[in-house]
Formats: sequence, structure tokens, C-alpha cells
Amino acid sequence: MLDPYKLRSEFPILHQEINGKPLVYLDNAATSQKPLAVLNSSRDYYERINSNIHRGVHRLSQAATAAHETARQTIAKHLNASRPEEIIFTSGTTDSVNLVASAFGRSSRLKKGDEIIISGLEHHSNTVPWQMLCERLGITLKVIPVLIDGTLDLDAYDQLLSERTKLVAVNHISNAFGTVNNVIHICSQAKKVGALTFVDGAQSIPHLSIDTQLIGCDFYAFSGHKVYGPTGIGILFGKYDLLCDLPPWKGGGEMIKEVTFEKTTYNDPPFKFEAGTPNIEGGIALAAAIDFVDNLGISSINKHESLLIKRTAEIIDELEGATIYGPDDRAGALSFNFKGIHHYDLGTLLDQMGFALRTGHHCCQPLMSRFGITGTLRASFAAYNTIEEVESLGEALKKALMMLR
Ligand code: ALA
Repeated sequence: MLDPYKLRSEFPILHQEINGKPLVYLDNAATSQKPLAVLNSSRDYYERINSNIHRGVHRLSQAATAAHETARQTIAKHLNASRPEEIIFTSGTTDSVNLVASAFGRSSRLKKGDEIIISGLEHHSNTVPWQMLCERLGITLKVIPVLIDGTLDLDAYDQLLSERTKLVAVNHISNAFGTVNNVIHICSQAKKVGALTFVDGAQSIPHLSIDTQLIGCDFYAFSGHKVYGPTGIGILFGKYDLLCDLPPWKGGGEMIKEVTFEKTTYNDPPFKFEAGTPNIEGGIALAAAIDFVDNLGISSINKHESLLIKRTAEIIDELEGATIYGPDDRAGALSFNFKGIHHYDLGTLLDQMGFALRTGHHCCQPLMSRFGITGTLRASFAAYNTIEEVESLGEALKKALMMLR
């Protein structure tokens, strides 16, 4: 059983006051806080082995290279990739989406008239790169509609699929509503028409066990900072044969085999997609974050967070004028509004009481339009949140609503 109180001692940032009130951090879908294991990993790297990797015969370079490649193995194991070479270090989920959109766009796999499918639940980062690709190549972007309960219309998805579909890109969990998408089904349907599949795991990585082989996706992406790791580091999982087949997207050092002024031949994956000096410390600290999650056990984390999110929904539901978005079996995030109250005003008052929640469109403007709103107030959870914090959010909301009504 996960003990969030014990866990909190490992997160120095949580022990502070905001406006004279204890900080209640409920903006974990935006970014999670970092445990000592991660902070110490970064510090240890710079104190002991800081050096460039894959480039030096000297001892520090070898130690840094070994630590970085061990990190790749840790992440490969966590995602159940079939080999570490399927793991590419990027700067985050957005970078991973852009990598695939760019490399796929430069491959011979796409032609005018082809189609790419995304969903109405996507973050802008899993929308705009595909839109840019479609505009560039004369491809059509199709969108799986969102039902009123905040889930995807999977019958409509079946209708959208055809031999013209070349790629389907969806998130595993919606950052805005916490909807958990049936990515196994979505990927298997896409496969039937020969389309590739890309899963944005930015929100699922801290909450669910991720098995890329079970999901059956071609690509899976996430950011380090959402899963207790540092910012500026992310992952793209890609099936090895596909990574061999796709052209690189950035040119530079380390992504080559041989360079002459006439022609360059490229390195094998993953290095083909890792031009330039990577975020070495970030990759190593991300592996420390993954170890932290594995030690806690993702199912214990999930169980604990489910209790928190259910109780939050109950509390909000009892407040006058509340609308909660998304299905009951949500994960990670809970979005809501109150009739006649602007989410921004409520968020600002909550901040004065020490509560950190996100307000606004959550980088999901098309989804907000679908529901006829400009945004929501969103509480999002991590392993270190407690039931007391949830209860106190209820009290704070009551106070703030009284002030605004
Ligand atoms: N994608 C992050 C969020 O949902 C920034 O808040």
C-alpha cells in the first residue's frame, strides 16, 4: 500500500507555503515534482562523470556513455520494447511527435490524397505537427469525434479508416479530461488497413503500466518531466525495422556513419535520430525517475490516485452549479467548471489559498470548442497527493465560490 505521507519526505519542493498556506500541488498533468532520487542523480552526474558521450576514449566519457546507455536499457525495459535501440532520446513528447511527422513526411510512404487520423481529444502537440505535414504534402487530416461523455466515438473511427489512412495518432490519456483511450483497439483497427500508429503517452506514463508490445503501436512517446523526471528530456519508442526504414530528421554529429562533401551515410537507430550532444544528464535522471516509479509499483500508484480522483469528483459534484467533464473512469486529471464562474477567477483565488491547479484550454482548443467552453479548472494528481489535500480543496472551492457569487 502506497504511503503518500512517507513519500512526501522525498519531495523537498512540497514542504513550502504559498501565501502563508501549505502548498497543495494539483498541477501534475502540467509537470510533476521531482524526488530526491532524481535530484541526486542529476547532481551526481555533474559532480562525478560529466563528459560528452560516444566520443571519447577517456575514462569520464566512457562512464557517461555507459550511464546513458544503461538509462536507455531501463526505459526500454519499462516500455517492454524488444530492444534498447527502439528507444530514442528526444527533448520531450512534442519533439517526439515532430520527429515522426518530419521523418515520415520525408519517407516515400506518403503521397497526395493520403490521410492521417488524429482524435478530438488531442493536445495541440499531437495536432499541429500532423496538420503542418498535411499542409506540406497535400494529405487530409481526419479527426475521430468526441462523444458527450468525453470518450472517443470508436464507431465513427471505424468509418474513417480506409486504405488511404497512413497513420493514426492518438493520446493514451487525455491531458484535459483524463479519458483513458482504448489504444489496443485503436492500434489493431489501424493495422487492419495497414496504417502506422503513434501513441502520445505524455499523460499515461506516470499512471499506467505501458507495454508497447501489448498495445501494438509503432510509436510511443512521453516526456520525462511528467513522470518525476527532469524537463528537456523525452522518449520516442519506435519499432526497430521502422526506425531503420525512416530517414533522419535532423542532421549533425553522431547521426552519421560516414561524411564526405558528396554524400553522407547515416548511423543505425537510435543514433540516426539523435543528432548533436543529447541531454545526457536528463536521460540518466529520467531512468532514475523510472526506477522510482518501478520501486513504488505503478499499480499501487494507480490505486492510490484513483481513490483521490474519485473523491475529488464526489466533492465537486456536490457543489452547486458544477459540471465535470470526461468519463467516470478517468485517470490523472479531473476537469470541471461552475455555472457563471470563470475558471481563471477560481484558479486565481485558489492560488491565494495555496492550491496549484491549471486553468484554461489545456492546449486543447478544439476539444474546448466541442464542449462550447473556453476552458476548465483542472486538478491533476501524483503519487504524493493525499486525501487531506483533496478534502481541503473541497473547502477552498466552497470559500472561493462564495466570494465569486
Ligand atoms: N500538457 C501539459 C498540460 O496538460 C502542459 O498541462
